[in-house]
Amino acid sequence: MIHEGKSIRYVRCMDDFLIYPKTNVWLDVGGVQSRTDPKIYVVQTATEAIKRCLLMTTDPGDLILDPICGSGTTAYVAEQWGRRWITIDTSRVALALARARLMGARYPSYILADSPEGQRKEAEITRTAPSSQPTYGNIRHGFVYERVPHITLKSIANNTEIDVIWDKWQVTLEPLREQLNATLGQPWQEWEIPREAGTKWPDEAKALHTDWWQGRISRQKEIDASIAAKAEFEYLYDRPYEDKKKARVAGPFTVESLSPHRVLGVDENDELIDPLKINEKDAGYAPGRGFEQMILDNLKAAGVQQANKADKIVFTSLTPWPGELVCAEARYPEGDTEKRAGIFIGPEFGTVQRTDLVEAVRECGDAGFDVLIACAFNYEAHATEFSKLGRIPVLKARMNADLHMADDLKATGKGNLFVIFGEPDIELLDEPDGRLRVRVRGVDVFDPSTGQVRSDSADGIACWFIDTDYNGESFFVRHAYFLGQNDPYGALKTTLKAEIDADAWATLHSDTSRPFDKPKSGRIAVKVINHLGDEVMKVFKIT
Ligand SMILES: C[S@@+](CC[C@H](N)C(=O)[O-])C[C@H]1O[C@@H](n2cnc3c(N)ncnc32)[C@H](O)[C@@H]1O
Repeated sequence: MIHEGKSIRYVRCMDDFLIYPKTNVWLDVGGVQSRTDPKIYVVQTATEAIKRCLLMTTDPGDLILDPICGSGTTAYVAEQWGRRWITIDTSRVALALARARLMGARYPSYILADSPEGQRKEAEITRTAPSSQPTYGNIRHGFVYERVPHITLKSIANNTEIDVIWDKWQVTLEPLREQLNATLGQPWQEWEIPREAGTKWPDEAKALHTDWWQGRISRQKEIDASIAAKAEFEYLYDRPYEDKKKARVAGPFTVESLSPHRVLGVDENDELIDPLKINEKDAGYAPGRGFEQMILDNLKAAGVQQANKADKIVFTSLTPWPGELVCAEARYPEGDTEKRAGIFIGPEFGTVQRTDLVEAVRECGDAGFDVLIACAFNYEAHATEFSKLGRIPVLKARMNADLHMADDLKATGKGNLFVIFGEPDIELLDEPDGRLRVRVRGVDVFDPSTGQVRSDSADGIACWFIDTDYNGESFFVRHAYFLGQNDPYGALKTTLKAEIDADAWATLHSDTSRPFDKPKSGRIAVKVINHLGDEVMKVFKIT
């Protein structure tokens, strides 16, 4: 309040109100397409816009679906605010960006309401005793949020604590006022004492005046705090309290793509539908230029790569071959001699079975080929173990999903389109206490200059996982290890802006696993992934 002449006026300051209601005009989100977030996608949505929608419509623990993922802003915001998420995109570029964004993100750690520290925080805010209920860390109870009081005259009138505070301060303030009045010869009531001391006042009066105002302001602060604590309040759901000592990263998530499983169907005449024929027709390849021909064009230009560049197989010729399963003959140099390879191409949508490879390699034998090169998007588990029949090695190249783009892909020979990732060389180690350990010694590599298979060191392995109790169907990562030369995960430390526990890290950065119990299922599976992202899995029976 201020006096102006004889009238009292009210001055409203910008910081008088902690919050403003949001209306449906959002001019403060930096545009729906972000102009403020770091730009990673051409049509990226602003995090602030998604955050606002998400906080208005969901609670922690809810599941959010965004079927047009883009750079994954929805999933990113959902992670931050403790919501679960599923997101979908037709573009692998978008999914790759989203995956990298989520994996590299660092989030604040909010205090859970359902936790001992949450109970303490809540007690501190409401000036009550902490709850003694057991806590379970359940996110559905939400976080502890900042809140603003709704102060009404009624809440002030009914607050008896104000009288207690008033009485407490009267004991200090009244004697000061009386002494000040006596020193200055004034009849001032409390509300008449000026804010500033007069310059000509004696020092004693100035000191009394300062003490009185200090007490007066402290009394007001206590009363305001009491009013705020006892008033009704509004939660600020966008302002949970943070535990500044903790950093949070994204919870575990998977990235799934087209199902690799072959789907068998029958048509109206009970005839088996051949997915290859249908797909060629529907995929719209140019007449006379089916999926196989497109793959062969690319294979001729790109050759077959292995983890080590020097082991690349470069073809001198590649011509069609009228086999049942072998569809081309490729020639490549091995030292001074020329070798002939039979080429088998797997289905456009589907998985290559071991029996397909056995048939194909037999054809190669009959036709006098030196080696079978199979090219496929996926191999079923038993096919991955099949590497030789008689004198003929079977090289299994994995085709890059870019080849699904069919006719749109120019056969430039660039990109890792056909990559052989050999059998991992794995050793099982028995522990004295009956448990097991696994060691990866490296990966078998076909040396095109000698025609021999040699074992390469573990350097070509980016990471490897063990399912210590494999159920024969889905691989569950129970142990994970990260290899590679030159501290490849140094960047992780930088991203997390944290020091990593060296001892804990050493157990992860290892070619030998920690010991584990023998599997109840009688099987373990080991999955090995190279730096190009190709993976192989090997299953072991444990008795
Ligand atoms: C406007 S962007 C989404 C932007 C996203 N919110 C972000 O922050 O990055 C639309 C996305 O939808 C994807 N898309 C288009 N048609 C689709 C479809 N039929 N199914 C799934 N995703 C599709 C596009 O690939 C594109 O990434």
